[in-house]
Amino acid sequence: MEKLVIEGGKPLSGTIRIQGAKNAALPIMAASVLCQGEIALGNVPDLLDIRVMLDILTALGSKVQREEDRIQLDMSGLHSSHIPEELMKQMRSSIFLMGPLLARFGAVTVYQPGGCAIGERKINLHLQGLEALGAVIEEDGNTIRCRADKLKGADILLDFPSVGATENIMMAAAAAEGRTTIHNAAREPEIQDLQHFLNAMGARIYGAGTDTITIDGVARFTPCTYRIIPDRIVAGTLLVAAAATRGNVTLEEVNPQHLTSLIHVMKRSGVQIISSGDIMNVQCHNRPKRIERMMTSPYPAFPTDLQSLLMVFLSLADGLSIIKETVFEGRFKHVDELNRMGADIHVDMNAAFIKGVPRLYGATVEATDLRAGAALVVAGLAAHGTTVVEQIHHIDRGYEQIEGMLARLGARIRRTPIEGSAPTPLADRTG
Ligand code: UD1
Repeated sequence: MEKLVIEGGKPLSGTIRIQGAKNAALPIMAASVLCQGEIALGNVPDLLDIRVMLDILTALGSKVQREEDRIQLDMSGLHSSHIPEELMKQMRSSIFLMGPLLARFGAVTVYQPGGCAIGERKINLHLQGLEALGAVIEEDGNTIRCRADKLKGADILLDFPSVGATENIMMAAAAAEGRTTIHNAAREPEIQDLQHFLNAMGARIYGAGTDTITIDGVARFTPCTYRIIPDRIVAGTLLVAAAATRGNVTLEEVNPQHLTSLIHVMKRSGVQIISSGDIMNVQCHNRPKRIERMMTSPYPAFPTDLQSLLMVFLSLADGLSIIKETVFEGRFKHVDELNRMGADIHVDMNAAFIKGVPRLYGATVEATDLRAGAALVVAGLAAHGTTVVEQIHHIDRGYEQIEGMLARLGARIRRTPIEGSAPTPLADRTG
């Protein structure tokens, strides 16, 4: 096992390119299953979750080649629709394979991905959507078997705009007979990216990015080449890190439109942000102003994935800020760790009351999940003294060599092994 050691208090400065989006790449890799030929993907980040998805595709019979950020998938020899349980356990996102495998083979067997550190994470909306398309689902303990001789288009209303359920239904419906309409669909940019990719393979999908998505099923999918969008959560992390350290950072290959809600909050807090095309400059010279009240909600509102990062920033603000978490019930695990670094945060139900402090102090802290871990790294960069972040395998699921990325911006950060530790556990990789 490894840890990150950070000497804080140095403003970040410089220019950095944003990696491809994990949350776009994973469903797109799953959707490739629909194609009988070769798919070439570019701008794929090198992350633990991506490697697990490649392992699963290989186990199902795909030929996989990887060179830098490019992945070549040959789907012509795919022979199985049974995702091995040990691989399924390693990554919750393997559930994305359910829709496309069902469409290709008429049957799929998966295992309950279960809850995780950030909440219960049910899949009922995925299953209801597939049932509406004609699938017969049998749950036997942990095993879920799904069959459909023929998938048929349907009108589907989601009780909640779930990102994963919208994507799973889109992928299955792309190959169904007739028209499917998803009402109350999630509107995240990653869903638009999935639509663009599926259409590049020959699908006929319209409306992603709005709350109504229409899918006219097609019988065949053709090989294609596709480039993944930039990762808005990584960009948001760097934006907050630049501001929290009172730095001056330029982000390249970023889509500022995907970060509208974060930019709005940061500007209200006194951060200078200038965007031009796919470049964004962030500067912060003063102590942040408090944000009276903030709430996480599905896109385009403030993303739950940036809540822990915003909290670090507001813990240094002048006054009391309140953040309400409405998407995942378990997303305040970083609070105790931040308080150990001198923050003054109190949680009551799903609201965090953040009394700003003039400074944070280095401490040894533990990452409990991906974004909580990233928040602790940012806190360490802003803090006085040395911070040690442990359990960093969580962070490696979503950030490509986070220490290299931050060191390029002048951060004093290094990765070191924890002496006498056991290898990184795989079973708690959830995302
Ligand atoms: C995706 C993102 C994750 C992000 C989340 C919300 C990926 C790989 N992960 O996760 O980073 O934090 O969107 O923006 O893209 N729910 C149900 N039943 C379901 C499905 C979801 O009740 O069948 C609930 C969940 O428990 C949760 C909420 O809906 O409370 C949001 O989940 P969802 O939008 O599905 O998130 P994911 O797709 O899992």
